[in-house]
Amino acid sequence: MKRNVLVVANWKMHGQLSWIEKFVKELNRGLALETAEHLVLCPPFVYMEHLYRSLIGTGIRVGAQNMHGTSQGAFTGEVAASMLVDVGCKFVILGHSERRTQCGEDDRQVAIKFELAKQSGLTPILCVGENAEERAAGLTEVVIQRQLDAVLLHAGQEAFSGAVIAYEPVWAIGTGNSATPEQAQAVHAFVRRHVSRHDPDAAAVMPIVYGGSVKAANARLLAEQSDVDGALVGGASLVVSDFLAISEGFMSAVAR
Ligand code: 13P
Repeated sequence: MKRNVLVVANWKMHGQLSWIEKFVKELNRGLALETAEHLVLCPPFVYMEHLYRSLIGTGIRVGAQNMHGTSQGAFTGEVAASMLVDVGCKFVILGHSERRTQCGEDDRQVAIKFELAKQSGLTPILCVGENAEERAAGLTEVVIQRQLDAVLLHAGQEAFSGAVIAYEPVWAIGTGNSATPEQAQAVHAFVRRHVSRHDPDAAAVMPIVYGGSVKAANARLLAEQSDVDGALVGGASLVVSDFLAISEGFMSAVAR
């Protein structure tokens, strides 16, 4: 039996009101009732409330792609955790590699956001993962341990209680070159072992989801890995039939 399975759509900077309406309609049409509670859709901020309202009664939850590390103040263009909660948001993706590389977010800033998200009642989805050079140099575990330790140092030994971790190897994001099920399993097991040294109870139940070129074609094999509890899906989450097929792939592992 799998841990709590989560299949998360990260729409990144895609979508429009009309597109979202069509997406939700088609998703609801194709979705088995028991699958809905395992799905999270993360739209751009401006569509959060609209999406939340159109999902009322379906069981599908919404998440944000980022938030600010301060509770309020003079931060032009930023969005606070409490505002996300206010419009129905339940999850927040933090430390995505695109924010680390394009926006210069470092481990400490991500850790500050992580703690604030939890204090605000959001479930953080902490992204960790190595780039191609780091993997080639044999540094995968070193990098991931550093990213996890920053959160443990800032938010304490029990930081990961009630949280989600996403393993997203940078080289697999948007490349069509997914980690193999074995590569994903090895890193997920490492993440769980590392968290377990600090908080064995949290580690035992914490969903660790995989992201990086997840497609309908590879979802089932990834889902069969004992420490892969779900997926964080980029490109394929923009196509309802693909997102449904990926969700079904992971749900079939729940049943087992
Ligand atoms: P792709 O599924 O497009 O590779 O993106 C993965 C990702 O970055 C999800 O957060």
